[in-house]
Amino acid sequence: NGEIRMLGIETSCDETAAAVVAWREGSPPRILSNVVLSQLEEHAAFGGVVPEIAARAHVEALDGIVEAALAEADITLDGIDAVAATAGPGLIGGLLVGLMTAKAIAAATGKPLIPINHLEGHALSARLIGDVAFPYLILLVSGGHTQILLVEGPGRYERWASTIDDAIGEAFDKTAKLLGLPYPGGPNVERVARSGDPMRFDFPHPLKGEARPDFSFSGLKTAVRQAATAIAPLSDQDVADIAASFQRAIVETLADRVARSLERFRAERPQAPAPTLVVAGGVAANGPIRAALLSLCDKHGFAFLAPPAALCTDNAAMIAWAGIERLHAGLGADAAADAMELAPR
Ligand code: KG4
Ligand code: ZN
Repeated sequence: NGEIRMLGIETSCDETAAAVVAWREGSPPRILSNVVLSQLEEHAAFGGVVPEIAARAHVEALDGIVEAALAEADITLDGIDAVAATAGPGLIGGLLVGLMTAKAIAAATGKPLIPINHLEGHALSARLIGDVAFPYLILLVSGGHTQILLVEGPGRYERWASTIDDAIGEAFDKTAKLLGLPYPGGPNVERVARSGDPMRFDFPHPLKGEARPDFSFSGLKTAVRQAATAIAPLSDQDVADIAASFQRAIVETLADRVARSLERFRAERPQAPAPTLVVAGGVAANGPIRAALLSLCDKHGFAFLAPPAALCTDNAAMIAWAGIERLHAGLGADAAADAMELAPR
């Protein structure tokens, strides 16, 4: 009946995930299942993701997660048309586990294996939930990535901006650690910032006002450390004020940096009918960041799309969907794909 049913597998960081997505030309895609097991607790005691622990946890969990995704979709491996798995970038141990499992399933069932670049998964996820036409811009802000991509089609990307040092989520996590807040830092910084004074500290705005479109966060982290050391021991109010001032600096810097790419899009594609900025990644959950991006988009005549949290953070539905888009575009299967360990900037 022309429907493609894709099993997706994602193991590039600390989420073990499997999903089944179905699509037929002319209809919106259907997420039949989207199972994610987060290793948050395994890593919390260390204040960050430990690659060795992650790889072992993926080995232990993945088979069960794939079974759960198939069961929830009410489908067997025979009913799947192809398998898509993240091949990189990410932590090599986890990537190997996911890709080997996908290869085994592909070999046993005779179905194609479609290796997916994790960033392509994020980049195309907007089209899984909304009617977003190419080309559009995606801002990817997570613990491992901070970048803006121009998305022209499956396999057709241009990186317009990226961080020259830390990822934005890393800046949140390190600030949280410094303030004695638990991992993952982002949500906790946002929470305590609500009762803080964002004007108490004037933290730097790295690269703000510069013509280049890139991001930088390490100077901010250093300034936060110096401020905290200078007034230690920190009261609860001090912690809240630092968090609020840090978040203000991040929000203002981010808006300034993203504006460069919106301007470039406008200048290079004055004809594009509905310019859209999509945001994805864990940091996209941040309220003040969303609000700032929304008003920035209003100002520049862009539509703003933020997929629901479950599809913004790492998941396998976006990998399955990227597999469908690639298959449909005639880009495709590679049974001999290797895992790629690339620095996820
Ligand atoms: O996309 P994600 O779940 O995993 C990857 O990094 O791939 O993103 C996790 C990151 C962490 O750094 C976390 O602190 C940050 O997203 N984060 C937030 C918020 N929620 C999660 N940062 C700021 N505000 C939040 N509400
Ligand atoms: Zn990711």
